Amino acid sequence: MENLKGLILSGGAGTRLRPITHTSAKQLVPVANKPVLFYGIEALVEAGVKEIGIVIAPETGSEIASTTGDGSAFGASITYIDQTEPLGLAHAVLTAEEFLQDGPFVMYLGDNLLRDGITALVDAFRASRPDALILLTRVPDPGNYGVAELDGDRVVRLVEKPEFPPSDLALVGVYMFGPSIFEAAKAIKPSGRGELEITDAIQRLIDGGKRVESHRVLGWWKDTGQLDDMLEANRLVLEDIERSVDGELVDSKVEGRVVVEAGARLERSLVRGPAIIGADARITDAYVGPYTSIDSGVTVSRAEVEHSILLSGSSVSDLDSRMEASLLGRNVKLSRGDGLPKTLRMIVGDNAEIRIP
Ligand code: TTP
Repeated sequence: MENLKGLILSGGAGTRLRPITHTSAKQLVPVANKPVLFYGIEALVEAGVKEIGIVIAPETGSEIASTTGDGSAFGASITYIDQTEPLGLAHAVLTAEEFLQDGPFVMYLGDNLLRDGITALVDAFRASRPDALILLTRVPDPGNYGVAELDGDRVVRLVEKPEFPPSDLALVGVYMFGPSIFEAAKAIKPSGRGELEITDAIQRLIDGGKRVESHRVLGWWKDTGQLDDMLEANRLVLEDIERSVDGELVDSKVEGRVVVEAGARLERSLVRGPAIIGADARITDAYVGPYTSIDSGVTVSRAEVEHSILLSGSSVSDLDSRMEASLLGRNVKLSRGDGLPKTLRMIVGDNAEIRIP
């Protein structure tokens, strides 16, 4: 089979993950201290797909390109493709038409994570070469997803966020296409929300008698497009980490599967895994509980943090209740003021969410 390219979609508006997405791309939010996007690139490379196009948006594209580079760090070659407006997944495919050059490709949503990668799917596609191969997984709440109706293994209908779901099989954010997807994407009209939907393009393939197959994902899958799912992805990835303590421990205890990167320093603190403490982090008189990812250069002092993601350069100090299920952006400072313990004083950006007990 001719060369199979990869297309990662990392544009989009990211409205559901504001305010993080006001200043940064959601695909760069670290899960276990590694940007979500990197997991996707690694999954493609592992499946033998090394020529990768990444669709980027004007606001966050340069940050993605400078963080991710030309692909050599992953053993891949990466081309960046500008999508001037987030007009939908099928629009992103059309934007990348020149890069894809009428060949078959794997499309991977840049904010998605699959525990078991995509190698089995890519192998299945290479073996049977359908017009499209979609990934499906059972979910308890199909109304929140694109949903497939099957006849045996054959896909007969796809519906986006249905009020009355025809099954509990949700579309996972990885798709494989032959060149017929371009004609289908050109033929469809924008949906009610103004986007060219990939589900509509695939439905057009089905209606035109093309071969659309499905493959079941058994390991976990997460779309990290909103806070709870991002935290859940972090929990699931940390669930699989191995203990390695390279940082410095002073009167501190590290229990269970914990990564403490070189240059991190713990003083009079307890870290209970699974958790990761990044390079140059300072944890002092603090407790870091399970499912927490502390990125490089973060400070936690006289505070307790659990089931949270703290991005680089943030600091948390002198809290009198435990922080949990939280996502702190870069360089956030969370502290108690001197002398005025009953007041709250803050500078908070648009669309932030803060809950005080
Ligand atoms: P979504 O999460 O469905 O859309 P979004 O990023 O616009 O977020 P929100 O709904 O919160 O506003 O997109 C899935 C992935 O595809 C994500 O990595 C962004 C990317 N994408 C594009 O690259 N181009 C697009 O036109 C759209 C809609 C998404």
